[in-house]
Amino acid sequence: MALHELMLTLFLFSKLSPSTADIEAGSQVWEAKENFQFGIAEGNVEVIEQNTAKDLPLKDRAVVVFQSVYDEDIEIVAGAVPKFGRLVVWDSSVSYLPRPPSIAFKKGQLLLHVQFSKSKEKMLKSYADVAASKAIRQAAYDAGFIGSDKPVPNDTDIEKSFVSSSKSLEGKEIHVFDDLFEKEDLDRLRAFIFKHGTYYYDDSDEGDDDSDNVQWIAGFEIDAYIKSRLWNIMQQTLKHITGRDKWFPYDISCNLIRSADHTRIHQDCEPHEDEWTYLIYLTPNWTKNDYGETAFYETMTNDNEIITEVRPKYGRAVVFQGIIPHSARPPSTNQSHARLTFVAKVSVDEFVGRHKAFREEMRHYQGLVESESMLDAIERGLDFDPEAEETEPRDEMSDDRGDSEPDDEMEEEEENEEKPIKIEKEAEERVIHEEQPDHPVLQELNSRLDAVAQSGGLDQMRNLHRELHARHVTARREAVKRITNLI
Ligand SMILES: [Fe+2]
Repeated sequence: MALHELMLTLFLFSKLSPSTADIEAGSQVWEAKENFQFGIAEGNVEVIEQNTAKDLPLKDRAVVVFQSVYDEDIEIVAGAVPKFGRLVVWDSSVSYLPRPPSIAFKKGQLLLHVQFSKSKEKMLKSYADVAASKAIRQAAYDAGFIGSDKPVPNDTDIEKSFVSSSKSLEGKEIHVFDDLFEKEDLDRLRAFIFKHGTYYYDDSDEGDDDSDNVQWIAGFEIDAYIKSRLWNIMQQTLKHITGRDKWFPYDISCNLIRSADHTRIHQDCEPHEDEWTYLIYLTPNWTKNDYGETAFYETMTNDNEIITEVRPKYGRAVVFQGIIPHSARPPSTNQSHARLTFVAKVSVDEFVGRHKAFREEMRHYQGLVESESMLDAIERGLDFDPEAEETEPRDEMSDDRGDSEPDDEMEEEEENEEKPIKIEKEAEERVIHEEQPDHPVLQELNSRLDAVAQSGGLDQMRNLHRELHARHVTARREAVKRITNLI
């Protein structure tokens, strides 16, 4: 055991200090740890290699990517480099710092962090705290969208807030307004997002040029949002610009951008769609050197030109046609706050908007429905092979169990390098699969959507969209519960 620890400690420090001083650094640390009350010699910091971790039953596995460990003088005494499947266990009283990946690494880093205690009292308190914060979050969502409590008059003077308008060479429009919204609403919306928002991250760092490549926060209910004061003002703005009042929000979210993010130029809709995007800047006290502008471009090509750029300002609204190529500039490294924007994308009317919202929601629901069989297999102690019709019993002695792990991007990438032909074919199949899901639940929903789309009935479309949303919420809750039980 001691040799095992020593080897691993040296290995880690050579990684941390890639210079000729490596061995010396390792020696210093090794001396330091003997006097170190939380020291490695006591076995309080331990790294278990990937293969060992894979031999553990799933419920005993953890993936922790980290981190430098500090002594009382805040000197670094240990460290572990990230490696897929690596398990790190340490005494909770040791100071440590989870280090973010380098700026050059465009993906996020996922880790599972589990804290253990011998104290049942502490465990119960922690459990109660989690349950209480869940209840507070649910109550916040149940209370409706910010600004549902007090309606606004339908004759807001939009022109009074007008700042500027721009047009692309193709005649597509961008409009800027200030002070349309009350500061109290903006503050409440901002607070709600940070406290109760659900964060998502597009991890496709390569090959997906269509994505904006930013973190976003979603979970806003369309039906709650359309009753809010914010939407009322947005509707009036859109009517002021376009002369139409039928616009309907099919996608409501927040974008969160930090200085190290790699944003991409993208369009919010397809050329055949008549859509607008309504954006509100939600970070206060933005100064001129904080950058973070929204840039609008004439084309999606490499030799494109800028139509205009809009500076962030707390509460400022930018309303533009979704087909215009655009991108958020990351804030300056001087700005320690994230650049937060509230975004509503609108379709021509409620029927088209709900149809689009249904399809967007189906993409997420599809993943949950299809993962049910994987969870079934894991719960029964079986390996899951998505290509096999039947699951096979787990081979406890198998060395290549990694090949049968459920979906994982890193493993997919490794396979990509070795078996390009096979993956190409799989990618082709995935496209077909996405268009025509073979799960009966998904097929049934899709055919009902087609029937409603042909009938043109708004009530049926509204009900179908609400039904899917309710099923999605339930399925997500159920999946979280089952995954939590597994780990
Ligand atoms: Fe966008």
